[in-house]
Amino acid sequence: MNKITAAITAVGGYAPENKLTNFDLEKMVDTNDEWIRTRTGISERRILNEPGMATSDLGAPAVKELLRKRNMDAKEIDCIICATVTADMAFPATANIISDKVGATNAWSFDLNAACSGFLFALTTGASFIESGRYKKVVVVGADKMSAIVDYTDRNNCILFGDAAGAVLLEPSTEGNGILDSLLKTDGSGKNFLHMKAGGSLRPASVETVMAKEHYIYQEGQSVFKFAVKGMADISAELLERNGLTGDDISWLVPHQANLRIIDATANRMGLPKEKVMINIGKYGNTTAATIPLCLWEWESQLKKGENIVLAAFGGGFTWGATLVKWAY
Ligand code: UT7
Repeated sequence: MNKITAAITAVGGYAPENKLTNFDLEKMVDTNDEWIRTRTGISERRILNEPGMATSDLGAPAVKELLRKRNMDAKEIDCIICATVTADMAFPATANIISDKVGATNAWSFDLNAACSGFLFALTTGASFIESGRYKKVVVVGADKMSAIVDYTDRNNCILFGDAAGAVLLEPSTEGNGILDSLLKTDGSGKNFLHMKAGGSLRPASVETVMAKEHYIYQEGQSVFKFAVKGMADISAELLERNGLTGDDISWLVPHQANLRIIDATANRMGLPKEKVMINIGKYGNTTAATIPLCLWEWESQLKKGENIVLAAFGGGFTWGATLVKWAY
């Protein structure tokens, strides 16, 4: 019998309508469109600004879309994994809330926190459940409402992030399609450069933590940049080498969208021309766990069965990784 692999068989995505442009930000902090575009590649981002709406309200429509595309009932889903750093609540898991909102009453579900690499960590986890033969339909969601943890008076960070979600369905394949290999890494000492200071068990929320603005993203941008350029490029090159592939064998690079300069460095290192790189950072900014599935969602109609695709990410933790996918449809 042929080996079971986990094929991606449908993609869904969701970005809120409301746009926050560089020109809007010019009115909020001391910045300008030219600086933001040349340093990051970002022109605008989407913001979920309706009251009472949370990360699950980004994830649920993405999951509903993939169910529609696959003509599938939510009750058929075995498991939902949601990668996020902006859970609706500290508990229960946002994946549980998404399950409830889409009607996945037969699924078990949980969240996974690996910041910007969250989707790759969740995808690899979900793929293992399929490969083991234990489950037939696993949904992996990357969703983040970054606007909930961004300080819109801090020009270093507020220009970078946006809100969105993407989701994929994993099903067994015996044709050798799907998630073929993953290299995933963590270095916990990286927490010093990128974290949220309060709201966890180390510094529970208090008047002091709120006054000190400790419930927002803290990032030492330049340091993270240096680690990200090296981390994402090295691991993508290592993944190619370990699978005996070169840039010529790869149809698409799907990089985490944190900074256009980091994306360019990774593509160069892999020997890939720009036409083979999915880039939508200009429209959405950095949506953390959502960037990679959001790219797959936007480019889905251009993808062809049998194409080799490399997904690559670097983010808070530090976490980083690269995954090789053979497109299944
Ligand atoms: O997805 C998770 C992982 N995160 C990342 O991968 C992010 C990695 N880091 C980056 O992408 C970049 O470091 C940033 C985009 C965050 C910053 O770009 P940079 O080229 O590293 O700029 P910088 O922090 O070195 O700042 C350069 C100058 C500074 O002014 P001085 O000290 O040279 O006078 C900043 O104060 O630009 C200034 N600056 C700004 N100016 C206008 C910082 N932010 C802004 C701004 N508008 N928004």
